[in-house]
Amino acid sequence: STTRRPLMAGNWKMNLNHLEANLLVQKLAASLTEKQLTEVETVVLPPFTDLRTVQTAVDGDKLLIGYGGQDLSPHASGAYTGDISGAMLAKLGCTYVVVGHSERRAYHHEDDTVVNAKVKAALTHGLTPILCVGEGLDVREQGTHVAHCSTQLDGGLAGLTAEQVRQVVIAYEPVWAIGTGKTATPEDAQEVCGAIRQRLAKQFDQDTADQVRVLYGGSVKASNAASIMAQPDVDGGLVGGASLDAEEFAQICRFPE
Ligand code: G3P
Repeated sequence: STTRRPLMAGNWKMNLNHLEANLLVQKLAASLTEKQLTEVETVVLPPFTDLRTVQTAVDGDKLLIGYGGQDLSPHASGAYTGDISGAMLAKLGCTYVVVGHSERRAYHHEDDTVVNAKVKAALTHGLTPILCVGEGLDVREQGTHVAHCSTQLDGGLAGLTAEQVRQVVIAYEPVWAIGTGKTATPEDAQEVCGAIRQRLAKQFDQDTADQVRVLYGGSVKASNAASIMAQPDVDGGLVGGASLDAEEFAQICRFPE
């Protein structure tokens, strides 16, 4: 993972209003040096209602922190009540957007076809999709987790050129490890992240596989980040709960030290 710049993204999920968002971003920036923020790309993924506030903080103080949305519509614009388009996110200065998070798949019945359309919509607007894949406990117990994640990967990237795939970030988030305090072992994370990279090489090409960043997500904390991030095919993390605490998230972002 030497040539891939590590990425640490904090997925706030449905937490923090815009006032709290401002505080967290300021604290995070104050806890990390410019060198640290340059070494590890640091990104926050707040609720939509916080994005304007985060933009104002980042622009106003020239913070080396990126930000993005947690979802986007597969459509460009129109009669889609409650949805947010990629164009709207891009206009606010977002550079990332989460696509196909397991909570969207579970609670909003998003299948690989919708996820694929969202990946394409993100790329159309110059946003980097963070495409999430991951198996539930039943699949893990059957031992078919690699095949499961490969299917989600293929589905999410269907119809993309290798050049487009190079703009995508993949996040492996085993559902049984999300918000449960049950972290995958570094070996578990490496097994699937490595398999994802091999799959990218097979479906696209080796160069693409070598360039794409593959993140691990699921109960990443300051105490376990370093050992997971040390794995050769893990290029960073997608952090939920622990990203809501500025000090802890800053510590996670300092993992190469
Ligand atoms: O997207 C991040 C995620 O689902 C992991 O959540 O709270 O287990 O770190 P958490």
